[in-house]
Amino acid sequence: MEKEIKNQIPHCLIIPYPTQGHINPMLQFSKRLLQKGLKVTLVNTISSSKTFKTINLNTSIEFETISDGFDDGGLTAAKNIETYIETFRRTGSQTLTQLLHKLTKSNNSIDCVIHDAFLPWVVDVAKEFELYVAVFLTQACCVNSINFHAFKGWLDLPLLEKEIVLPGLPKLEAADLPSFLYKYGTHPGYFDILTNQFSMIDQVDWVLANTFYELEPEVVDWLKKIWSLKTIGPCVPSMFLDRRIQDDNDYGINIFNPNSESCIKWLDDKPKGSVVYVSFGSRSSLSEDQTEEIAYGLKNCGRFFIWVVRESEKSKIPKGFSETLEKGLIVTWCQQLEVFAHEAVGCFVTHCGWNSTLEALSLGVPMIAMPIWTDQITNAKFIVDVWKIAVKGVGDEKGVVRRESIEDCIREIMETEKGNELKNNAIKWKNVSKKSVDEGGSSDKNIVEFVNELMLRRK
Ligand code: UDX
Repeated sequence: MEKEIKNQIPHCLIIPYPTQGHINPMLQFSKRLLQKGLKVTLVNTISSSKTFKTINLNTSIEFETISDGFDDGGLTAAKNIETYIETFRRTGSQTLTQLLHKLTKSNNSIDCVIHDAFLPWVVDVAKEFELYVAVFLTQACCVNSINFHAFKGWLDLPLLEKEIVLPGLPKLEAADLPSFLYKYGTHPGYFDILTNQFSMIDQVDWVLANTFYELEPEVVDWLKKIWSLKTIGPCVPSMFLDRRIQDDNDYGINIFNPNSESCIKWLDDKPKGSVVYVSFGSRSSLSEDQTEEIAYGLKNCGRFFIWVVRESEKSKIPKGFSETLEKGLIVTWCQQLEVFAHEAVGCFVTHCGWNSTLEALSLGVPMIAMPIWTDQITNAKFIVDVWKIAVKGVGDEKGVVRRESIEDCIREIMETEKGNELKNNAIKWKNVSKKSVDEGGSSDKNIVEFVNELMLRRK
């Protein structure tokens, strides 16, 4: 029996929600499972597989596809998010069933399905095939806990209280909650996605979260009382966790932004800590007003900067601005981790998406928080007040962070004693983060535990 178990490699099917911010962490997690000796197949939608491009991806992960019902265009081809999610549920269930049959027939059968919490219907399909199931939570545990409270009806919505007290979390103001709760009713489709993440959680075998224990110990301890939770993050390519790009250049997947540009040459001759890096992630859209304020905030501060403005956002840059730049580089997409890992980078102006947050924190880069919506609002609260690695850009009555505020924040981080403290804190977090994924660290141990438990259950 012993011999049989050793000779069989458990096979996991990993199913991310098809956006950059969800595929990235699940791909990195897949690589960790591979390292621990599992076989891994990553499932993309047909539409995302048409556009994605691997970057230095040198791995034995296998790839398969299922359909979200919008094989040309994915979410952008759907009437709205509600239609997309419902169509994905129906078509995804059918095509995932076909995929599982195909893999079984070709002697490539699956032991465990690890699905993005945004796709709770996967549990029903996996159970039909009597597979083990792990749900993957892409967001921070502080955010998961808040959304879980909303799902359970333990938060009165719309929020009437100004102060929100929840187990394992610091006292929060209502405005610190994810925007779909604080501004309840504004985006019902997204509210449903975020709360439905927990609709099948009682039926899964493991709950895996892209965070590390030391970052959010109290809330993780509380959630562990109700879920079989393992923190397994940060899901950042291991080669970047030490500010040295090592030989292993196995990096990732770039899905919707094929023209990724390397900024390394440009950064190479800039002094240490002198460059402001600015990015608002893969999906958030800024108003024209906000884009203009960022443009002039960056220009007026007189520092070097790299500003990622996606193709779809480019028309919002003020006319003539790009042509007059002496110290700035505007790119449509870059390899963000390479940028963080470069010593010329001094701070990061961010929308506080969870991946960007974990990446900057894990590479010791202090931040200027300019959250836009969803979990970013709560992430910003924690980055600034709990982990103390950022200052926050203050919005005016319209919610626009004006150029003066952006300039002030950059100066504060780059030139003041407080900025130094934030930098030192960021370095501290970088070390803790690295330790958590190093052999024997909290996340590494949890991954090993998951693998061992899966092996044992297969007996
Ligand atoms: C979204 C939500 O905003 C985020 O809050 C949620 O937790 C996940 O889904 P996104 O807006 O894309 O994600 O932000 P983020 O989570 O930061 O992910 C962006 C990813 O794109 C990061 O992994 C980042 O490294 C990568 N990126 C970004 C690049 O590789 N190049 C770029 O130029 C910009």
